[in-house]
Amino acid sequence: MEKINSLAVVGAQWGDEGKGKVIDYLASRADVVARFQGGNNAGHTVVYGANIFKLHHVPSGIINAGTLCLLGNGMVVDPLVLVEELAELEKRGIDTSNLRISGKAHLNLIYHKDLDEENEKLLGEKKIGTTGRGIGPAYADKIMRRGIRAIEMIDLERFRERLAGILPLQNRILKEIYGHAGYDLGQLVELYRPAIEKLGPMVTDGSQVLFESLNAGKKVLFEGAQGALLDIDHGTYPYVTSSSTVAAAAATGNGVGPQHVRQSLGVIKSYTTRVGEGPFPTEDHFEAGEQLRERGNEFGTTTGRPRRCGWFDSVIARYAAMINGLTGLAVTKLDVLSGMDTVNIAVAYRCGEVEINNFPQSIEELKVCTPVYETFPGWDEDISRVRSLKDLPAAARHFLNAMEESVGVKIELVSVGPDRSQTIIGQDSILESWIGHNQ
Ligand code: GDP
Ligand code: IMO
Ligand code: MG
Repeated sequence: MEKINSLAVVGAQWGDEGKGKVIDYLASRADVVARFQGGNNAGHTVVYGANIFKLHHVPSGIINAGTLCLLGNGMVVDPLVLVEELAELEKRGIDTSNLRISGKAHLNLIYHKDLDEENEKLLGEKKIGTTGRGIGPAYADKIMRRGIRAIEMIDLERFRERLAGILPLQNRILKEIYGHAGYDLGQLVELYRPAIEKLGPMVTDGSQVLFESLNAGKKVLFEGAQGALLDIDHGTYPYVTSSSTVAAAAATGNGVGPQHVRQSLGVIKSYTTRVGEGPFPTEDHFEAGEQLRERGNEFGTTTGRPRRCGWFDSVIARYAAMINGLTGLAVTKLDVLSGMDTVNIAVAYRCGEVEINNFPQSIEELKVCTPVYETFPGWDEDISRVRSLKDLPAAARHFLNAMEESVGVKIELVSVGPDRSQTIIGQDSILESWIGHNQ
C-alpha cells in the first residue's frame, strides 16, 4: 500500500462537513497540521469523551500534544480572537506552545469587522450572510496591497508604523462612506499590544518549517476550512467566502509545492447543509429538512445560526471532486440518517426541460434547477457504536455504496458520531497507511 506523508482534508459541500472531527482523528499520526486559508469564520468541532472544543483559527491538531500547528500564509488572522482562543485552550489544559503563525499571513483587524458588518447592512436583502468576522475586507486589503502581515507583530513599533500608514485611509472609508467614528492610532495600538506581545514570538517562516518537515519525511496534514461551494472562484459566487478553499490552495496557502497535495480527502455529510444566503438546490423546507436539523443538531459553530438542511447532492459532490481532485471521501453524520423511512440522493438537476449532471457556472442557472432524486430504503438501527463497515445495517451500506458510485470517488472513512472514537476506516483504505492498522 502506498505510504502517504501529506494529505489535504477539505470541505466538499458548503462547510461544516465535520472537517474538525476528521482532522483530529488523523492528527494523532501527524507531525504537522497546517491551515491554509480562511480565518475565524471557521468553526471546527473536536469531540473526545466529555471534551468538546470549538476551534476557529487554531488547527484541529492542537489537541494532540506534540503536533506542530501552523497558521499558513493564506490565512487572515484576528490577533484579538486568536489570543482568546489560545487562553481558552490553555485554561482547559491544552498545550498551545506548538502553535506557529506564518509571517506572511494577513491580519484581520477591527476595522475589517466593521466594514464587513457595514457592507452587509448596505446590501440589505442581497446580503451574503457572512459570519461578520471581517474576512472579506481583510482579504480585500491583502489584494489591494494595503494589508498588515503577521510578521509586523514581531515588534510593536513595526506594527504601529504599518498601522499609522494605513489608518488614515481606513478611517476615511469608515467615516465618509459608512458614517462610522473611525479609530485613533494610539488607542488601536494599545488595544492590540497584549495580543502582539503574546503572538509575536509565534511568528515564523511557515514555508521553511514545512519544507524542512516534508524533507525529513514528517507527516503533514493540510486542514481546509469552509467548503468547495464556498470557494471564491468555484463556489456559488457571490454567495461565497473570500478565499480559495480547494485542495490546491493548500500549496499556495502554505508556500509548498503542489506535489505535496497529491492526496486530498473530501469531507461530506451524508446529507447537505448550508449556513448564510445563496442557492441550495436540495434545501428541504419541509419535514425532512427539519428532521435533519434536529437530529444533526445543525446550528452554526461560529454564529449559532440554524443551518439550512436537505438531502445529499451528488451533483455538487462530483463537482467538488473535480475542482479539488479528490482522491478519497470521508462521509460524516451517517448516524443522523438512522430512523428516516427513506433517504434520498440527488443524482442530477432538472432545469426547465433538460436534465443536467454537471454543476452550472452561474447562480442564475442554478436558481432554476430542481433536484432529481433517487430514493433508498432507510434503516432504524442506532449505528453510533458500529466500528466496522460490515456491521452497518444493509440499507446503510447500500446508501454508502450509492453515494460512492454517484460521486465516483472511494469512501475512505465513515463517521457515525461526533466523538473521535466513532470513526470507521474502510477496508483497503489508503488511510490505513496513515493511521496504522486496528485503530
Ligand atoms: P467543520 O466546520 O467541518 O469542522 O464542522 P463543524 O464542527 O462546524 O460541524 C460539524 C458538527 O457535526 C460538529 O458539531 C461535530 O461535532 C458534529 N459531527 C461530526 N461528525 C459527526 C458524525 O459523524 N455524527 C454526528 N452526529 N455528529 C458529527
Ligand atoms: P467551516 O470551516 C459554513 C459562509 C458564511 C457565508 C459565507 C461568507 O466551519 O466549515 P464569510 O464570513 O466567510 O465572509 O462568509 O461563507 N461560511 C461558512 N459556512 N462553515 C464555515 O466554515 C463557513 N465560513 C464561512 O455563512 O455564507
Ligand atoms: Mg464549521
